[in-house]
This record gives sequence, structure tokens and C-alpha cells, in this order.
Amino acid sequence: MKILVTGGAGYIGSVMVPELLGAGHKVIVIDNFMYRQPSLAAHCWNPNLEIVFGDIRNLELVARHAKSVDAVIPLAAIVGAPACDRDPKLATSVNFDATVALFELLGKEQLVLMPTTNSAYGSGDQDNYCDETSPLHPLSHYAVEKVRVEERLMERENSVSFRLATVFGLSPRMRLDLLVNNFVWRALKDRFVVIFEGHYRRNYIHVRDVVGAFLLALSNIDDFRGEIFNVGLSSANISKIGLCEAIASQIPEFVFLEAQMKSDPDQRNYIVSNVKIEAKGFSPKFSLDIGIAELIKGLPMFDVPQFANF
Ligand SMILES: NC(=O)c1ccc[n+]([C@@H]2O[C@H](COP(=O)([O-])OP(=O)(O)OC[C@H]3O[C@@H](n4cnc5c(N)ncnc54)[C@H](O)[C@@H]3O)[C@@H](O)[C@H]2O)c1
Repeated sequence: MKILVTGGAGYIGSVMVPELLGAGHKVIVIDNFMYRQPSLAAHCWNPNLEIVFGDIRNLELVARHAKSVDAVIPLAAIVGAPACDRDPKLATSVNFDATVALFELLGKEQLVLMPTTNSAYGSGDQDNYCDETSPLHPLSHYAVEKVRVEERLMERENSVSFRLATVFGLSPRMRLDLLVNNFVWRALKDRFVVIFEGHYRRNYIHVRDVVGAFLLALSNIDDFRGEIFNVGLSSANISKIGLCEAIASQIPEFVFLEAQMKSDPDQRNYIVSNVKIEAKGFSPKFSLDIGIAELIKGLPMFDVPQFANF
């Protein structure tokens, strides 16, 4: 297939794009490289990879590259509640306006596989058990826009929505703000964290298993078309305290304390069912413990202290 990946140089994209190329697909990435990340440099040799430096809000540019592709994977976004709150207008223009405009450019036969988020299941309730039919309560600007985009996505034919759990693992465009990555980083660097809402449970998934879900759908599209799937590790519906305990089992010096200092903007406290995608053959390869070990091995490579001499 020929596949357009917007935001393909991001945390998920820079793991996904090499896998798509490895599976024999031709890939066009449109990315504005807003983090100055050289995350796809090792793949520029590949004639099946085209890289377009540009903004997805430039519809003429997007239309030019979208017209010849079989499938689109829209990853370009301002990602996460804090980043969206810093500039809500920018977030809306990228995450909603430009993404919906992209859907409108496409023909019916063109496939769209899109990551959305499971943060909208948040209610703060205890034992909030969620599957794809559960009500959504988006609270943060980020989650509200993701829910609105998913509604528009599913109005078109030939779409799949993957409601991703909190992603973890190493990527050439690293994200240290994601919960598992952040806690392991702080366990290595500071040896402690202070957590809030420590009993709140979330679901997690390794970045390579996210890519695995997309590849599975591409090769079995009739099983996926028109559907919404949760994508998470069924073995990892755990609380922040449980996550800290898992990290401490590999970094014994790690200390964690709880304090009521703030609250989660999306009140993420839930147990997510991933049965629907598992029934289609999805079988994650990377447990939380494997991911923690990977982060312990690789995170020191990302610690570049520019403004301190320690
Ligand atoms: N990582 C997670 O835990 C997670 C969970 C659920 C959903 N998602 C979704 O997956 C997608 C990718 O997330 P990520 O974790 O890789 O984040 P990321 O911030 O690493 O990647 C976003 C990419 O988009 C690019 N970009 C941003 N604005 C752009 C613009 N206007 N034009 C062109 N490129 C632009 C950035 O340069 C970056 O490469 C997002 O839609 C995100 O909402 C991620």
C-alpha cells in the first residue's frame, strides 16, 4: 500500500514508519518537526520513504500528497492535556479543524486508521469498567477534541479508530511526559516521585504493540473497517501505586509518596476491556515489566543536561 502518515516523525510515528516500510509499504510522512526531532534520519536512505516538511493546516499541501494514497494514518496533533491547555486555539486548529479537513479531502475508498484516546472514559468512579460502548466523559480540551474527531472519523466509510491506552516504551522522538516513561525517568534521575490520586487505575500499552495493532488492521482490514477498538494491555489495568511498585521491583532505591496536591484533568480512573481487539487476533508482545526494563536501559541516552553541570 501507499500510506500517508501525518505526524510520522512523532513518538508513535517514528516507531511506526520503519515498521510500515519493513512490511513493504510506501510511506509519505508530513510533519512540521515541531520538536526539532531527527527521529526518521536513519530511514531516509529508503526510496520507499518520502518526507514532506510541512504543516497539516496547509490543505493544498496535504491534498497534493493525499490524493494518490491507499490509506492515511493521521498522527499529527498537539498531544496531551497540558500541551493543549498551553495554546487551545492551536490545539483545535490542528487536532480538530485540520484533521477533519483531511477526512473531507479523501475519497470514500481511501482508508483512515486513527489513534484516538481512552482518556475520555474517565469518570473518577471506583471500578469504572469500560468497553467501546461505555459513555464518554471528556473533560480536558485534548480529550474533548479527540472525541469530536472520532465522531467525524466514524461518519466516513473506511475508517478505524483505535482508542489507545497510555503508551510507554522507547522511541527516537522520546516523550518523557507519558506516565510510565516519566516515572521510570524520575526513578532513575531523582530516585523518588510524589504522586497524586495514587489509587486511580489506568490502562497501558507499549508503543510497538500500538504499531502492531495498526499493522494487524492493515492486513485484515475487513475485520476492522467501520469499528472502534480499545488498544491496551489487559494485564496492565493498574493504579499509579501499582505502577510505582512495578518500577521499584526493578529499581529498588526508588521511593514514592502520595500527596493530595492536584488532580488528573481527565479523571482517568478505569479498567479498560481490550477483548474486542483481542478477538481479532491482537496479542501484545511487550508487558509493562519488559517496557520498564527497556526504559531503564535506554532512558539515560535521552538525559542531555544542557543547563546544568551535574
Ligand atoms: N502517546 C500516547 O499515549 C497516545 C495515546 C492516545 C492517542 N495518541 C495519539 O497519537 C497521535 C500521535 O501521538 P504521539 O504520542 O506520537 O505525539 P507526538 O507529539 O510525539 O507526535 C505528534 C507529531 O505531530 C507533529 N505535528 C504537530 N503539529 C503538526 C502540524 N500542525 N503539522 C504537521 N505535523 C505536526 C509533531 O512534530 C510530531 O511529530 C496523536 O494523535 C495522539 O493524540 C497518543
